[in-house]
Amino acid sequence: MRLNKFMASSGVASRRHCDEIIAAGRVKINARVCKKLGTQVNPDLDIVTVDNRPIRIRGPFVYYMLNKPTGVVTTVMDPEGRETVMDYIPSNTGKRLYPVGRLDYNTSGLLLITNDGDISQKLMHPSFEFGKTYLATIEGKLSDAEIEKLANGVNIGGFVTSPATVKYVGTKGNDSTYSLTIHEGKNRQVRKMFLSVGYKVKELQRVALGKLQLGDLPVGEYRPLTEQELDYLRNL
Ligand code: URA
Repeated sequence: MRLNKFMASSGVASRRHCDEIIAAGRVKINARVCKKLGTQVNPDLDIVTVDNRPIRIRGPFVYYMLNKPTGVVTTVMDPEGRETVMDYIPSNTGKRLYPVGRLDYNTSGLLLITNDGDISQKLMHPSFEFGKTYLATIEGKLSDAEIEKLANGVNIGGFVTSPATVKYVGTKGNDSTYSLTIHEGKNRQVRKMFLSVGYKVKELQRVALGKLQLGDLPVGEYRPLTEQELDYLRNL
C-alpha cells in the first residue's frame, strides 16, 4: 500500500496533506525517516510513525453533517421512542454511528455524526477551545449593555461563561436575532446566557462548529464532510 494511503487510512490527514508530512521528514518506516513520496508499506509488517508516534489503519470512518430539525432527540436510541437524529442519516452503513456532542430537543442546526471516536473525543473535550456559533432569536432587543454582558461572561448558575462574540443579526416584527459564538458547551448554555440577562430564547440554531459551516444545508438533510473539512478537524 502507498505510504500516503496508509497514513490517510490511519486518520492522519488527507492523502495530499500526508505527502507534505512525508516530505517534511516527519514520517519513519521501521525507525528510518522516509521522505520519498510513493513509498510502499506493508500494513501488517511495517511500523510507521508520524512525529515518532506509531499509526495504524483504523476505520473505515464516515463523517456526516446533519442539519438537525427541532423536535428531535440527539441520541442513538430514545427510551421514549421519540424521533432521534439517527433517523435522519443512512442506517445501512453497517457502522456504529453516533452524534458528536448534543443539541437540545428544541435546537436545530449543525450536528456531526461519525463512528470516529478519536475525533469525537477531541472535539468534545472540555479543554478544547472550539468556537460554536448559534443564531438565537428572542422577543425584544438587547441593549448595548446586555450585549456587552453576554460578550464578557455571565453567571449561569455557578458557572461564569468565558468571553463570547455577540453580533446583532436583525429584527423581524418584535423578534431580534443574534449570532453568539461560545467556547464551552455547558448544558443549555446559550438559553441560560440569554435568561441571565432577562430574555427567553424562542429559536436556537447552531450554524458553525469552528470553521465548519452549516451553510445552506436544508433542515433535516445531511451531507458527508468534505476532504478539506476532515483535514481541518484532524489538524485541530
Ligand atoms: N445551548 C443551548 O442552550 N442549547 C443547545 O442545544 C446548544 C447550546
